[in-house]
Amino acid sequence: MELSKVMRTSGAVREFTADDQVQPSVLYRVLDNARFAPSGGNQQGWHVTVVRDPTLRRRLADLSVAAFRRYVAEQSAGYRAFSVVDPAPTDVEIPDGIPIDQMLAAIENAPEVLVVTVDLRTLAVLDRDLDRPSIVGGASIYPFVQNILLAARDEGLGGAVSTFVVAGEPEAALLLNLPRGHAIAAMIQLGRPLHQVTRLTRHPVESFATVDRFDGDVLSSGGRARTS
Ligand SMILES: Cc1cc2nc3c(=O)[nH]c(=O)nc-3n(C[C@H](O)[C@H](O)[C@H](O)COP(=O)(O)O)c2cc1C
Repeated sequence: MELSKVMRTSGAVREFTADDQVQPSVLYRVLDNARFAPSGGNQQGWHVTVVRDPTLRRRLADLSVAAFRRYVAEQSAGYRAFSVVDPAPTDVEIPDGIPIDQMLAAIENAPEVLVVTVDLRTLAVLDRDLDRPSIVGGASIYPFVQNILLAARDEGLGGAVSTFVVAGEPEAALLLNLPRGHAIAAMIQLGRPLHQVTRLTRHPVESFATVDRFDGDVLSSGGRARTS
């Protein structure tokens, strides 16, 4: 596939065809392409655990549920869930009846479930001393995660990233025998899409790209934007 088409159609896939397993050679090729992702200092601190044991999947799914419930509760109460800028009060009521079945089933039934972790010792976290949550550390692992999704799309597969399990990292680490100092970046479900998305909804370039200043001229497609 054309790279631009891959990029423009790699939407989140949460439903997979029941019969199609991901061939081992295909999964291998996905990771073999994804590994060309950039990382700070080319440290490549990633590790992929392919979780196939149903019991393990179930326990990782259960760990995801607690954060999912809180996410839905905070959103229902009108907050941006898990915001670090404007966090919801800790005592937001978690209503009964939050539908978790679909989410649990997605993790249990996906043809492949990958847990992507990173060795924290490999990261140069340039914003570690700033008075805000760090964002730079993730920059050495999430390009790899995105590459997995792009490589999967190129193979006719699809996937969705999930980070709920990270909220239960201490317990998940025990389940996965994660060495000390390694962190979970994402869980990815992979398989053959039940429906292939052909058109994603995204904001146009004009809504986020400016020249010289954050509030500068909107970047135009006709070459350099005017600066006055
Ligand atoms: C950090 C991150 C966490 C995400 N967590 C979930 C998740 O837990 N469950 C899920 O179904 N999708 C998850 N997604 C997928 C997003 O919902 C998806 O990228 C977004 O809604 C756009 O959907 P589209 O690509 O189908 O247009 C996550 C994506 C990212 C980047």
